[in-house]
Amino acid sequence: MALVSGPGRAGALPDELQLAVEAHVKYIQSLDTRRDELEYWLTEHLRLNGLYWGVTALHLLNRPDALPRTETIDFVLSCQAENGGFGAAPGHDAHLLSTVSGIQILAMVDGYEELEKRGKVVAFEGKEYKGKEVVGRYLSGLQNKETGTFAGDEWGEEDTRFLYAGLNGLNLLGLLDLVNVDLAVDYIVSCANFDGGYGVSPGAESHSGQIFTCLAALSIAKRIDTVDKDKLGQWLSERQVEQGGLNGRPEKLEDVCYSWWVASSMTMIGRLHWIDGKKLTEFILRCQDPVGGGFADRPGDMVDVFHTCFGVAGLSLLEFEGLEEVDAV
Ligand code: FPP
Ligand code: ZN
Repeated sequence: MALVSGPGRAGALPDELQLAVEAHVKYIQSLDTRRDELEYWLTEHLRLNGLYWGVTALHLLNRPDALPRTETIDFVLSCQAENGGFGAAPGHDAHLLSTVSGIQILAMVDGYEELEKRGKVVAFEGKEYKGKEVVGRYLSGLQNKETGTFAGDEWGEEDTRFLYAGLNGLNLLGLLDLVNVDLAVDYIVSCANFDGGYGVSPGAESHSGQIFTCLAALSIAKRIDTVDKDKLGQWLSERQVEQGGLNGRPEKLEDVCYSWWVASSMTMIGRLHWIDGKKLTEFILRCQDPVGGGFADRPGDMVDVFHTCFGVAGLSLLEFEGLEEVDAV
């Protein structure tokens, strides 16, 4: 993985820009204890995704044991629906994105064995399966056999986010051969725009989030060779604004989560050194709440676990001292 050299070393930063590791750990630990707050219930549709963002941040902060492993696995398994996929919370319908969050969490906490033992037994085309195979077959059933892309659930909305998430989940399960990877690659190639970027579907506007999903899917498929790296690298490097942060597309505001979507995209095409890593590191650190913990989209805004995850992931990609090294996909 190509990484910029030496930005954000703690010693080179002013005191107010130190990474507040303990505050971030406490913030993440506190998230599940806020059941008396309206926001807790308003975000129920994101519960499993939220747990994934929290667990990821804790692993990157080198505090993987800060949430109890057994309860984490129990919660993931309690979200499995009758069709083998995972819902956002117990009793919710399965969705591709929450299913992939479930897989990612189980992979991080070494929980596949529990899935084999305690996961649902589900029949596909008249044959019963268990464990990883059930989840893999749920995901492969969401691939459009004609176009190669994926729907988010049985209702059929398609988006390159789902294509990436589907391949990512299957790859983590070791079950990529359940889908047509070549057709998925053809679909992504058909989403490439004249500016080098990618959108949600063929012809749709380039957006850094979708560029991440397309590059990550191509990386999993080992087909990053299909990308015009210089043209895309140029477009991505123009996402850095004066304040050091990155935006998702031209004329938009910078946002800490693009420290992941853009910087990991640049890493995947070997062009991360085309942005100023030190300025980006300082922008990310200005988005943290050093007392209450957590990161916001921009300095001074309210923190949330999504931006906390991607802020820490961005710092890790920039080789910030003391963090676990992150994989760009
Ligand atoms: C806002 O778009 C959207 C985001 C900040 C998320 C972008 C990330 C992705 C699409 C990748 C998600 C990947 C998975 C696997 C779920 P906007 O148009 O409202 O924001 P803008 O004003 O920054 O352009
Ligand atoms: Zn954001």
